[in-house]
Parts: sequence; structure tokens; C-alpha cells
Amino acid sequence: MMSKPISRRRFLERSAIAGGVGLLSAAGWSRVYGANERLRVAAIGVWGKGWSDHTSVAASPHVDIVSICDIDEGPDHLERAAKHYPKAVKETDWRKVLDNARDIDAVIVSTPDHMHAPISLAAMQLGKHVFCQKPLAHTVFETRQMKLAAAKARVVTQMGNQIQSHSAYLTAVKLVHDGAIGKVKEVHSWQSGPLIWMLVDERPAGSDPVPSTLHWDEWLGVAPTRPYKTQIYHPFNWRAWQDFSTGQIGDFACHILDPVFKSLELTAPTTIRGEAPPLPAELWTRRSTVQYEFPGTARTAGNTLKLTWYDGEGHFPPQEALGLKEGTKLPTAGSLLIGEKGSLIIPHVAAPRLLPDETYADFKIETVPDRDHYVSWADACRGEGQTTSNFDYSGPLTETVLLGSIAIRNPEQELRWDADALKITNHSTANAMLKKPYRKGWEPAWVS
Ligand SMILES: NC(=O)c1ccc[n+]([C@@H]2O[C@H](COP(=O)([O-])OP(=O)(O)OC[C@H]3O[C@@H](n4cnc5c(N)ncnc54)[C@H](O)[C@@H]3O)[C@@H](O)[C@H]2O)c1
Repeated sequence: MMSKPISRRRFLERSAIAGGVGLLSAAGWSRVYGANERLRVAAIGVWGKGWSDHTSVAASPHVDIVSICDIDEGPDHLERAAKHYPKAVKETDWRKVLDNARDIDAVIVSTPDHMHAPISLAAMQLGKHVFCQKPLAHTVFETRQMKLAAAKARVVTQMGNQIQSHSAYLTAVKLVHDGAIGKVKEVHSWQSGPLIWMLVDERPAGSDPVPSTLHWDEWLGVAPTRPYKTQIYHPFNWRAWQDFSTGQIGDFACHILDPVFKSLELTAPTTIRGEAPPLPAELWTRRSTVQYEFPGTARTAGNTLKLTWYDGEGHFPPQEALGLKEGTKLPTAGSLLIGEKGSLIIPHVAAPRLLPDETYADFKIETVPDRDHYVSWADACRGEGQTTSNFDYSGPLTETVLLGSIAIRNPEQELRWDADALKITNHSTANAMLKKPYRKGWEPAWVS
């Protein structure tokens, strides 16, 4: 029998009576869930990655998807989800979902990148738990706000870098923590696959009729208005555009750098330097390199650690930088960690490989089993366990990635980053890119 879900409001009322609101952690308030009480989840952006996000969360026996929202009412988008969840409330504007905040406990945000922070911040400020796709936000400032908002509201959060919970990445992190390659001296990370979303070199002229099922103004959301063009932005191809996306580094580095961050316990870089051809006015680049320097950690060999990111079709790290035997095949995307005892390739996504082969011929790799990135969030919202890509962790990871996208727009310059002050201290143009303007009437509510 399905028991009645408990609302945060009811809980706060109860806690206030007990005099304990200010003292409780998110897990504290979640603990009031009884074994049969259900987590009521709203899914915002239900097609594309959104489909696997909400269906994976709904795999929990304790979750009801009670609200679905998509700016496209068409058969691939809202209509498809409505067939899947016939009892769910249907909306085309996320603000209406949050107007009915008392009916939901948690929100999944699977929209294009430019809407992650505005929706998630509003949800967290209403005390809702949030699962938000990667990258956490569209700017560095927004990303910091996500972390602050989660801490202030004491809600349970998870970024959608689900490969973090895959056996391949978990096993790689364990290898580093077990000292298999010794302390790490240097890291190279790359994504050299084709760019399937870079369809044009500049904004196409004119406009196309907006499909009757599409709410184009709501799709634009916080971004400046522009005419609708078929297939150029919605769905999926918004990735090419600076107004909506964070470029190839933003698309991939929250995955590929994640096991590097986790295993080496990195925090914030101190310097970032980008190399890229001059960018078109509104689009991202097809190829870039970003060099980061981090303070050393207990897992690194020196006082500092150099990490270099490469993206673009066929853009691999130079062979001579890797110290590998000639002919060693690299995966299309992944990382190489060069340690004092040996090296570790962490492919995106496949079993890690220790090198050189001769050194590790008898080494038995202990495979760590998969975790469930989605259900573990739902469980944590109900007070069971914790999330591993909560915004405390995924915030600094995303800030690092988005600093790379700033460096690409200011190439050949070493940018100095003061993470505590949230400032690029030596470059006013780059520093200004930590933030962006918002369309009038769509300004997010910041955490003070
Ligand atoms: N974790 C991963 O492996 C992974 C993979 C793909 C995409 N992603 C991330 O998922 C997000 C979505 O990417 P996608 O490829 O699915 O994009 P998409 O454009 O294909 O799909 C986005 C969905 O959200 C809807 N939508 C757009 N704006 C909305 C709004 N304001 N309110 C409600 N619905 C809205 C669209 O109609 C569509 O159904 C991005 O942030 C992307 O980076 C993550």
C-alpha cells in the first residue's frame, strides 16, 4: 500500500514544534521518511539525457515522478513522458512546477546548460533536493552559487556525471588510492572524438517557423532572445553556442576529469592557460588545449601538479609528453596519470590500464563494482546514505572546467585564479567572464 508522502512543509512544521529546524541537516530532515514513504520527484527536461535521468531515478522503489516539465510538448518530449507517467502533472514552464512546490520533494534538472543554475537555485531555495546534469552551471559564478545554495538549504544534491559511479572509474580511483602507480607527477586528459553538434560556422540568417509544440521563449529562458532556426539549437545542437553551452570542455571534462579529481583529491587550480584558434563570435571552438596548475596534494609527487586538457577531433596529447612505449594505443577519450612507479590510463569509459605492461604483468586489478548514481541520490534524499557528486564536490570540479572555457576565450595567457576570492586576479577581461548578463525578468535569485 502506498503511504502518504511527507512534505517538507509538514516536516518543518513538526520540527519547528520540536524547536529543531536550525539544527537539522538535510539528512536529518530526510530521516522522517518511513520505510514506505515516497519521494515525490519533478523531472524538468524529459527527453535526451533527461529520459535516462528520470527513468533511472524512478528505478528506486521509493520514488514517484509526480511532475514532468518540458518546453517541447511534442511526441518525443513531453508527450512521451506523459505516456510513461500518466498520473504526473504536465507543465511546459519550470516556474509553474516550483509554484506547486508543496507537492514535490526533489527536482531533476536535465535541460541545456544555460538553464541548470536558474532552475536548480530556485528549487534549492524552496528546500528541494536537486539532481542536476553536468556541467553544474553555465558560468563560474553560477557554479559557486550552486554550492552555496545547497549548503544553505541543506538539501541533498548530485551532479549527473554518472560515470563516477561506473565500475571503470571507481576501479581507477582505487588503483591510485592503493598506490599502484605511486604519487602522481603529471596528468593528460583528452577528448579526441568528432564534434557532431558543430553544424555551422556562424549564426544562420533569418528565422524558421516555431513548431506549434515548442515554447521557444521558455527554451531561451535566461539567454538573450534570438530567432528560432530548425535543428540549429533545439534539441541537442545548442552545445555549439556560447549562450547555451560551455563548449567541448564543458560537455566532456566534468566526466573525464572526475576520476582525476577524485583520485588526486584536487581542489582548485592556481593557473590556467588556454590555446585555441580565435573563436567565432558566438560559437565554441573545434579544438583547444588547456593547461592547469594545481597545488599538490597527498596524492601528488610535487608541490604542484600539471594537468593538460586536449579536445577536438584527432587531438591527442603529444606522444613525447606521455613517456609511453612507441605504438601504445590511447583511447579516443580519457586520462593518463603519470606516477612515480608507473602510469595509469583511465579510458572514458572502459577498464583502466596500468603501464608499462612488463611492470604490471602480475598485478591483479581489483575491480570495484558499479554504484547506482541515480538511486543513491533518491536514497540520500530519503536519509539513506550520501551522494558522491554532491555540489560540494562537483562545484569545484565544474568551476575548474569552466575556467578552462574562459581560458580558451582568452588564449595564450596565463590566468591566475584565486578560488577563495572568486577572482581571476591578473586579467580583467577573463575575470568579467566569470559572470554573464541575464534577460530582463529572468534574473536568478542569488544566495546572499
Ligand atoms: N551525463 C551525461 O552523460 C550526459 C549526456 C548527455 C547530455 N548531458 C547533459 O544533459 C543536459 C541535456 O542535454 P541533452 O543532450 O539531453 O539536450 P537536449 O536538447 O537533447 O534535451 C533537453 C531536453 O530538455 C528540454 N528542455 C529544454 N529547455 C527546457 C526548459 N527550460 N525547461 C524544460 N525543459 C527544457 C528539451 O525540450 C529536451 O526535451 C545537458 O546539460 C547535457 O550536458 C549529460
